[in-house]
Amino acid sequence: MFNPEIYTARRNALRKLIPSGIILFPGNSEAAYNYPANTYSFRQDSNFSYFFGLDNPDFAGIIDVDNDIDYIFGNDFEIDDIIWMGPQPKAVDLAAKVGVKNTAALSELTVFINNCIRNKRVVHFAPAYRAETTLQICGLLGINPLRISDYASMPLIEAIIRLRSIKSDLEVAEIEKAVDIAWQMFTTGMRMAYPGRKEQEIVGAMEGISVAHGKPVSFPIILSTNGQILHNHHHENILHEGRMLVMDAGTETALNYASDITRTVPVGGKFSQKQREIYEIVLNANLNGIAATKPGTFYRDCHMVAAETIASGLKDLGLMKGDVKQAVAAGAHALFFPHGLGHMLGMDVHDMEGLGQIHVGYDNEIQPSKQFGTAYLRLGRRLQPGFVLTNEPGIYFIPELIDMWRAEKKYTEFLNYDKIEEYRDFGGIRIEDDILVTADGHRVLGKPIPKTVAEIEATMADKL
Ligand code: GLY
Ligand code: MN
Ligand code: MN
Repeated sequence: MFNPEIYTARRNALRKLIPSGIILFPGNSEAAYNYPANTYSFRQDSNFSYFFGLDNPDFAGIIDVDNDIDYIFGNDFEIDDIIWMGPQPKAVDLAAKVGVKNTAALSELTVFINNCIRNKRVVHFAPAYRAETTLQICGLLGINPLRISDYASMPLIEAIIRLRSIKSDLEVAEIEKAVDIAWQMFTTGMRMAYPGRKEQEIVGAMEGISVAHGKPVSFPIILSTNGQILHNHHHENILHEGRMLVMDAGTETALNYASDITRTVPVGGKFSQKQREIYEIVLNANLNGIAATKPGTFYRDCHMVAAETIASGLKDLGLMKGDVKQAVAAGAHALFFPHGLGHMLGMDVHDMEGLGQIHVGYDNEIQPSKQFGTAYLRLGRRLQPGFVLTNEPGIYFIPELIDMWRAEKKYTEFLNYDKIEEYRDFGGIRIEDDILVTADGHRVLGKPIPKTVAEIEATMADKL
């Protein structure tokens, strides 16, 4: 946990951005796995965690905007619980750790909210993403659960995004801790990527490193020799020479800050010429996109830099043709790069996505593209110092998409379908780093994870 002053300052900053009323932050409860007492690993709600810090289930926080008072509602444990769980801190002591002096039992929250409603005070809350939270909010406020999204507070959404988008040095340090753990996960995964191994063994080893550092992975690991499937959670394949292995993973720190890294390596530890040629294009897209990352630049422009690097590289190899800028403007590159360059990263892997991606990644100045590929870009707006984002270009050969576009004779002026056929079974390559936007540019976060062909081959030579 950070110092109490940090949480107090965050709540005060939020108070200044909301005109009046109270702000309700329901913390998460335990989530049942297969029966009520057998639960998933507990994950606190990121907004609650940001403003109220506590990593315990069944708490709720209130910020009273008009009266400069904060409250934590939560129950103390009884002896029946303590027998099973051991001694537990009192709610009042937990609240003190995050600078909150006023505490009450959870049942008092109903009374408190009823009073607010009676006094016609606005109750602001953020969109809910769990059924339990939806029911809790709707029960407290007497609204129809099917219409809860109509009632989420837009001023609150905008204020939270404004605050959480700018990471403090302490937050950046947390994210770097998560990247440093990812370094260990990825170098281990690389050293295991030899023929005969099952993908699931590598997933297990990488996930184990995350858990050994204290927390589960920050999202289900994507790891596959069928990397052309962008989010492939099927890990049953046996590794074969000639395939590229995409590994996309991250961990969380004790304070719930995430890393999100991707590396792609040749099974067996040596790139073939064909693999190296495609890999170098993706690497250049990653590096050029990073080089373009600085305050004031639209992240969509960094995306376009990466897209043009990909189109230019594929033109050199004969897979694309014609004018590179025109090809990218038309969207032809999206056959190979059908997703966005990246997204915000923080307490959520897709940071604040639960508040609505459109509000996190776009604003009055820039709206999402409607073009296939670029439409998936989660962050398009102007960059500011303190943003942390991912840079994750890729080249994929998706047979179903190639066949569809070819049958539709799509972009025949930019795509050389006969040449593309030679890569039909190639798979995919993605490279992803976590980047801080600094006052005058950017910084790639964490201990550098092997990324060049030479670095990857050297790391893999130390086979596990
Ligand atoms: N891990 C999913 C992503 O890279 O966005
Ligand atoms: Mn990722
Ligand atoms: Mn990502």
